[in-house]
Amino acid sequence: RKAKTIAIDGPAAAGKSSVGLALAQHLGYLFFDTGVMYRAITLLALEQGVPLDDEEALGVLAETTIIDVQPPAGHDDGRYYTVLVGARDITWALRTPQVDASVSYVAAHPRVRLALTAQQRRIGQRGRVVMVGRDIGTVVMPDADIKFYLDASPEERARRRYDELVARGQEADYDAILADLRERDRLDSTRAVAPLRRAPDAIYVDTTGLSRDEVVERLLDLLGARE
Ligand code: C5P
Repeated sequence: RKAKTIAIDGPAAAGKSSVGLALAQHLGYLFFDTGVMYRAITLLALEQGVPLDDEEALGVLAETTIIDVQPPAGHDDGRYYTVLVGARDITWALRTPQVDASVSYVAAHPRVRLALTAQQRRIGQRGRVVMVGRDIGTVVMPDADIKFYLDASPEERARRRYDELVARGQEADYDAILADLRERDRLDSTRAVAPLRRAPDAIYVDTTGLSRDEVVERLLDLLGARE
């Protein structure tokens, strides 16, 4: 049986998005990066001055904000997709250090997760999707046809993130990036609801020392083995 729903989870900057996008393009599937939804709510909360511990206000924001993810068409700035809230393009606004440092607090609130998980499930039910995040194999799509858990050492993940920022011409501080990744891993894996963890039936892939294409090849092999 062909895998129609593919779940990819793992810690920050493990390569989930670049690998997931390449895999989806190869298969002709939809690529859906669930992290953008948590990031969008976080961006709006920061802009509107909503405190990061105000579960009620953050929950209402998550329940009432329509986040639209579209193909990157017409942009050549290296984006994987375009994220819109209304007519506003927030694709790059989601990638600031402020959002990085705040998103795991927003994502820990059960009411926020409930609202965003419901939207993610609706998209997953259509099938032919590669969905990436932290809780896809455990909570959002526990019945996914195949589940991968991508991992890499914190130092390698920080180096990849650093290289990405430099390539985009942004300022980057390796030590600050490493500290942020470690802190987000800690918050994401210790929260009470839907913590980051490998589903028992997820295939563990250590991507340390591998290029994106090598990881994609490995996942395609693993997919083939199950067809
Ligand atoms: O994947 P990305 O780094 O963009 O995710 C940003 C944050 O969103 C994560 O650190 C995590 O707190 C949250 N997240 C989540 N569940 C998901 C995807 C992302 O809690 N499925």
